[in-house]
Amino acid sequence: MTKKQASTQQVSDVLIIGSGAAGLTCALHLADHFNINIISKGQLSEGATFYAQGGIAAVLDNEDSIEAHVADTVKAGAGLCHKDAVQYTVENSKQSIQWLIDRGVEFSKQDPALQKDQQSNDIGKDYHLTREGGHSHRRIIHAADATGKEVQTTLCQSVKNNNKIKTFENYNAVDLITTHSLGVIGEVNQIHGAYALNRQSGKVESFQAKYVVLATGGASKVYLYTSNPDVSSGDGIAMAWRAGCRVANLEFNQFHPTCLFHGKANSFLISEALRGEGAFLKLPNGERFMQHFDERAELAPRDIVARAIDHEIKRLGVDCLYLDISHKEPEFITSHFPTIYQRLLELGIDITKEAIPIVPAAHYTCGGVVVDKNSVTDLPNLYAIGEVSFTGLHGANRMASNSLLECLVFAKNAAESILAEEAKPNHSSTLSKDDLSIPKWDESQVSDSDEAVVISHNWHELRHLMWNYVGIVRTTKRLERAKRRIQLLKQEVKDYYSHFKISSDLLELRNLITVAELIIECAMRRKESRGLHYTLDYPETTEKENPSDTILSRFN
Ligand code: FAD
Ligand code: SIN
Repeated sequence: MTKKQASTQQVSDVLIIGSGAAGLTCALHLADHFNINIISKGQLSEGATFYAQGGIAAVLDNEDSIEAHVADTVKAGAGLCHKDAVQYTVENSKQSIQWLIDRGVEFSKQDPALQKDQQSNDIGKDYHLTREGGHSHRRIIHAADATGKEVQTTLCQSVKNNNKIKTFENYNAVDLITTHSLGVIGEVNQIHGAYALNRQSGKVESFQAKYVVLATGGASKVYLYTSNPDVSSGDGIAMAWRAGCRVANLEFNQFHPTCLFHGKANSFLISEALRGEGAFLKLPNGERFMQHFDERAELAPRDIVARAIDHEIKRLGVDCLYLDISHKEPEFITSHFPTIYQRLLELGIDITKEAIPIVPAAHYTCGGVVVDKNSVTDLPNLYAIGEVSFTGLHGANRMASNSLLECLVFAKNAAESILAEEAKPNHSSTLSKDDLSIPKWDESQVSDSDEAVVISHNWHELRHLMWNYVGIVRTTKRLERAKRRIQLLKQEVKDYYSHFKISSDLLELRNLITVAELIIECAMRRKESRGLHYTLDYPETTEKENPSDTILSRFN
């Protein structure tokens, strides 16, 4: 189903799709060597990164160790973490944080009165480190409770100041351009760029590049309730899948235990750092309950806490439970959590005095596009970094604050891999405009939509059914039901796509349907409960020394 006839063609050495922590970090590591185009679906700053609250996990304190961070990550990952990926990530954590500090990111400082006398580790000495679920040490560096905003705005500024990087805001990547999609069969399938919808002009343009980096974030928008921004619609996963890349472990959808339950701000996250600093989860009658589910109580990993909340909500037949930090000093609360305090006050909730109504919501996509240790996908010169990728770091359950760390570490890894690729002998140097002829996007066969309600209706139906049938607690029957309904939606959207001009909503819906189908396929293949995947039909975790990932390929 190709629609070719693009109006404008942009050419760069490297095309980065996505401008979150992963995409911008990669661009900044490459900018001394290449011309880079970054395309971003909204404004440059928009994406999950901007909304990150808790912080970034890293070994920064002398009492902490790489071994401890590795062990905690592996334990949270319920047997599926790839140890080499975990080791690599944690070993590179300190230098990633130092790189951000060098760029100008201002993390919260330690109270001088509490500073430890540490000779050899400057970062841990100067900065406040908080705690989150699954971590055995204080190791989360943060900028109060708005870490993502601080990181993202600093990176955006660095990118805007760099004349080797060109940014294209409000461009929605439609599909990857590959050797095979260009109709050249019989040759190695290589990446050549991507088509992208210019959301302002409504025209599709082509972006040609020798290297393409997918940094499109996660897919939590596939669920009705989510902490994620609108851009998290799994586009990178769907585009890579259509281009022939394998994807893995998409059954592991992380539900954050504490999103605000409020008619006016349902997707607002209440950071896990509140629990790290002593907040309690409570039933409507004010009783704590987490100690009945796990000895780590409120600081158990997220899969356990989210499932416990879901269980209690269903057992009691209530709409929400509560998170309470009001027993702490007001000054402590407002200084550690100024953003959350202010936002909730605007909504009429004073967290220094009362408990916060909370529910779990879809938060993070642990699986993604399979990459090797150089961040390369199955297509030569196509890289994937950040939440869109599957590096093996998170296993069956991502530990809090390991995600931004993964973005930083693997963005640098991808940049280094591209540089190493270019340094190989006999390697053709950077692109010229004539290297390849990319056909234009063709709109001659399609017309303006006369029934956009199909899109809005199917968006809603998809996200509803994923929430109800493929949520925190699954069964085989629910998965089968979801699969049947997705087939119908898929067919309708396929018809719509081939008859009408594309829009951003249509592209996202098409991608979400693909991702939903892949999530369900992964979930049906896993005949056990493990980490974030919990099914009543197979409630036990199988005892295996080397449990396997769920890897999907279009070719088998
Ligand atoms: P994103 O930051 O999501 O960026 C994706 C980019 O891709 C965006 O620019 C988007 O516009 C673009 N894009 C997507 N599709 C297309 C397309 N088709 N065409 C063009 N551009 C496209 N993790 C932590 O480690 N610590 C935390 O404290 C933390 N808190 C969080 C709080 C919230 C509310 C949320 C939602 C997540 C949080 N996470 C946290 C997770 C973490 O923020 C994300 O996993 C991480 O930011 C992902 O970064 P990324 O660069 O991969 O993607
Ligand atoms: C949070 O602040 O609770 C989010 C942390 C994360 O998702 O890693």
